[in-house]
Amino acid sequence: MSKMALKVNGAVHTVDVEPSTPLLYILRNDLGLHGPHFGCGLGQCGACAVIIQGVATRSCVTPVSSVKGEITTLEGLAPPGKLHPIQQAWIEEQAPACGFCQNGQIMTAKALLDRNPNPTDAQIREGMNRTLCRCMTYYRIQAAIKRAAKMMAGKEARA
Ligand code: FES
Ligand code: FES
Repeated sequence: MSKMALKVNGAVHTVDVEPSTPLLYILRNDLGLHGPHFGCGLGQCGACAVIIQGVATRSCVTPVSSVKGEITTLEGLAPPGKLHPIQQAWIEEQAPACGFCQNGQIMTAKALLDRNPNPTDAQIREGMNRTLCRCMTYYRIQAAIKRAAKMMAGKEARA
């Protein structure tokens, strides 16, 4: 076991863990952050995504000891009681079905919009590639990303 400090959503946590433990387990089991989901556990679906240094990162295949920089989870996208424009757009477009994959969809969309604030449909498809949804919500997710882009650019009033 090793003690290590993790900065998550603006707060520093000290954890005592095996260095090879997947970051996802630490977030869910030690820190009680249940936004990131366990889907495949193999780095293939994206349900476990968090953002580390601007990159949507699959926490199920990220050893905790390899993490450099602050981690943002779904819980950290907006202050308590508020919604990030992406979350608001998700609601307005009714993007989720069962919801299981949606953490990964939202966190991957956040990283995409941070590096490209006005993506085309093709760029959205490319940026969201390999973030899987069994419920086939892809078209609603695409619409939600376009709506969020407008909101974040101040071209559409938030509800
Ligand atoms: S649970 Fe991590 S990529 Fe599927
Ligand atoms: S909303 Fe059900 S898996 Fe995506």
